[in-house]
Amino acid sequence: MHCVRKVTEDLYWVGANDHRLNLFENIHPISRGVSYNSYLLMDKKTVLFDTVDWSVCRQFLENVKAVLDGRNLDYLVINHMEPDHAASIEEILLRYPKVKVISTEKAFMLMHQFGFDVEERKEVVKEGDVKSFGKHTVTFVSAPMVHWPEAMVTFDTTNGVLFAADAFGSFGALDGKLFNDEVNFDRDWIDEARRYYTNIVGKYGPHVQALLKKAAGIDIKIICPLHGPVWRSNLGYFIDKYDKWSRYEPEEKGVMIVYASMYGNTESAATVLASKLVEKGITNVVMYDVSNTHVSQLISETFKYSHIVLASVTYNLGIYPLMHNYLMDMKALNVQNRTVAIVENGSWACKSGDLMAEFLDDMKQMSVLNERLTMVSSLNEEKIDEMDVLVDGIIESMKD
Ligand code: FEO
Repeated sequence: MHCVRKVTEDLYWVGANDHRLNLFENIHPISRGVSYNSYLLMDKKTVLFDTVDWSVCRQFLENVKAVLDGRNLDYLVINHMEPDHAASIEEILLRYPKVKVISTEKAFMLMHQFGFDVEERKEVVKEGDVKSFGKHTVTFVSAPMVHWPEAMVTFDTTNGVLFAADAFGSFGALDGKLFNDEVNFDRDWIDEARRYYTNIVGKYGPHVQALLKKAAGIDIKIICPLHGPVWRSNLGYFIDKYDKWSRYEPEEKGVMIVYASMYGNTESAATVLASKLVEKGITNVVMYDVSNTHVSQLISETFKYSHIVLASVTYNLGIYPLMHNYLMDMKALNVQNRTVAIVENGSWACKSGDLMAEFLDDMKQMSVLNERLTMVSSLNEEKIDEMDVLVDGIIESMKD
């Protein structure tokens, strides 16, 4: 059975949700599923904007067929070629052999690489090109590295709809609720939106900034992303989040304590640290155990908070592997502009602190506090002064 939603009087959401997939990109857990959004414009010409992942192709095809209601499909606009949106291109080409495909030169190269035969039906567009489908006229805006190099967004100048590709997306299946004003986004969605942005597009902050600058020059009324809710109100709220995230600016002044503990001693020190901070008035404190928190969650929270405490045991004369993995991801995703404090532990050769500091040295604008807590096996009374100095150092650095 088809399942579609109207976005405007002649634009339909024809995407689908996947609740079965455990790992997005085979790496990021998505306990609330994910939506693959595709949109069909019923103008003088019929225009499909992007397709969906192969896993939901059958639902998608039913949706397209139902909305077309016997009409032919004239155009397929491909804004982004990652297979979670592009895998069903071939099926569209087979079912609608007269369809013309509109996309960027780089996207057509990728279609060729993925084995889609579009040579006879391709219409290459570039930044600023304009196309009319009848009542609606669209303009194409290149959006390289948001999140792949071929990406573009399409803006409908007739009604202010922005087909935003991966920008402004979120993890989470829609479950019938298509629009941002049909959900409590700030309560129920923002964490998954942040986790999506930071892990998928987070590395490309400057490219997102470039796209936001272009977007500032157009009168956007509705944002149609490829994942998550469609934005038709309070657009500034989400644009502001994107602006902060892509500038690597923390959303909140607060302390995120990330600890790696084998037998609970480093965890215990992390808890003492948290309690002391709260006692001294810093109540925005969160704690995460690297061993039971997925790294995508750690990354998301790292983008949120201004101050990070890294507390790690020494393991094989190195950083605890899961802490190391987190640091590698931080570096890969270009995390920057944070204040970091270090807590290290080691029973006979404490190395983790220096090694974590080296890691942070290689990253941009990471301010590492001079105060450091070094433990030998466990925290004890002799180390409490050192802990207090660290706590005061963190609090002092939060005054800026
Ligand atoms: Fe949802 Fe970069 O694809």
